This record gives sequence, structure tokens and C-alpha cells, in this order.
Amino acid sequence: MTALEISPLRRALRAWYRPRREGYPWRRQGTGPYAVLVSEVMLQQTQVARVASAFEGFLRRFPDVSSLAAASRADVVRAWAGLGYHRRAVALHETARTIVRMHGGTVPPDPRALRQLPGVGPYTASAVAAIAFGRPFVAMDVNVRRVTSRVVLGREPEDGNGRQIATAARLLLDPRSPGTWNQAMMDLGREVCRPVPRCEVCPLERWCRFRDAGRPGTTTTARKQPAFEGSNRQARGRIVAVLRDRPSAGIAGLVAATGIDVDRVEGAAAGLVRDGIVERRGRSFRLAR
Ligand code: ADE
Repeated sequence: MTALEISPLRRALRAWYRPRREGYPWRRQGTGPYAVLVSEVMLQQTQVARVASAFEGFLRRFPDVSSLAAASRADVVRAWAGLGYHRRAVALHETARTIVRMHGGTVPPDPRALRQLPGVGPYTASAVAAIAFGRPFVAMDVNVRRVTSRVVLGREPEDGNGRQIATAARLLLDPRSPGTWNQAMMDLGREVCRPVPRCEVCPLERWCRFRDAGRPGTTTTARKQPAFEGSNRQARGRIVAVLRDRPSAGIAGLVAATGIDVDRVEGAAAGLVRDGIVERRGRSFRLAR
């Protein structure tokens, strides 16, 4: 793709994104690096609609790095309600403490420093560097990967080469506004360039090599989610929900309150203890302090 083609493509995506620019609470005016970090950790494994409803409550409860660092583990896990995957709450809590200890309480702008923080992988480090600090990094989530692979390389990401996709994404990245660019690509992948694409409403249709090539290998059925009912994740979520509302509970109490059988409750509770989310005191369990 030549520079001549890239600037109108960028302009088209920027125009499409404009009405979405403040579409989520973490994009509103005055959102600082801490709020961006919190939102990106939440968005790692939870859908945007759920994050949008939990994010503001969390930020009210813990408005800055130091308040989060000073909180108890139990309060952080309580404020994580509705988001699931509680290991992230533990990691974010540890991250706040590390930022206080190592960075004087301010989120570092450099992706290498961000990567050293608990629960911050390459995606989150690049997203925070780009969105909070305007640094030119690609935040390569599944949506950005799919949009880039289709538009530039003309194929599904599974049929291509990860290095080529990364190179193509760096080529597209708008250096004038990397945070806006990344978020526009994410929104496009979620709303339009979905597994089954809606090319008829796509602002990039004119430039898209995937569309040109007749959409080779498009997935026509929705990807099957692993079953939630009966899963360990379900048991963990229910146990945490019970312990949010009462000071402690034994295995029998957890079985009664969750409706999940003893073996699964025991296994899930042991996992929550290993992950530092719950602690065991004698025969009873409570949220970790
Ligand atoms: N997914 C991950 N980060 C996001 C963001 N900042 N906006 C929208 N979707 C996202």
C-alpha cells in the first residue's frame, strides 16, 4: 500500500470514528493514564458493554493509583464485581503498589516499563503507551489483527503470517494520533469488520484487499465459545459473589449458596486461594485482606 493510498484511508477511518470518540467513559475528557490502564486491564477479557458499566464505579471507589495501592485486596475484588476473571483484579492491585514503589505513583509511559507491571502484557503496554501518552505503538488485539490482515494483506489472520500483520499494522498506524487510531481500529473490528464482515457499511471498503479478493476463507459461523455452564470459571465467579456479601463461608455454605457440587466448589476455592483472591482460615474462606 502506498503513502498516497494510506492518507485517504486514515482520513476515512478518522471520520468514521469521530462520533465514537467519546463513546465510552474511559475516552471522555480528562481521563488520565491511570484510568486508561484500569480500562485496558478490564477490557483484556471482558466485553466493552460490561466494562462500561463497571468502570465508573471502580474509578469512583479508587480514583487514583495511590488509593488503589492503599486498598485491601478484598475491597478491590468487591469493586471488580461484574467483570469476572478476578486474577486481573489482584494483578491490577499489585500493579498500583508497584507504581507507587517504583515510579513515584505515576504510570510510566514507556512500554518496556509497563511490561514489568503485573498483569500487563505486550497488548496492554502498547495500548496504554498509545492511548494515554500518544506514543506510536500498535495495540494489537484480535480486532486490530483481523482488520489489518484483511485490509492490507487480503486474508484472514489465521491464513497469514503474524510478522507480516505486525508490519502492516505499523504501516497503517496514524503517527499523528496513535491512541485515536488504535481505538478506531478496535471499534471497526468489533462493529463492522467482524468475523462475518459487514462490508456494506465499512469506511475502508474502497481500499480493502480482502473485499477485492472476494473475502477468501471468511468464517461464516460464529466462533463457538467454550461452555460457561459447568465451568471452573462459573464456580469461581459464584464463590467470589458469595464472599463479596458475607464475611466468610465454609465449603458447605458455599455449596448451598452457589448450587454447585462439593467437588467443583472445593477445586474452585483452592484455585482462588492459590491466586490470592480468597484466603482460607481454618475451615472457612473469605476474600483476601
Ligand atoms: N478494547 C480494548 N481497548 C479498547 C478501547 N480503548 N476502546 C474500545 N475497545 C477496546
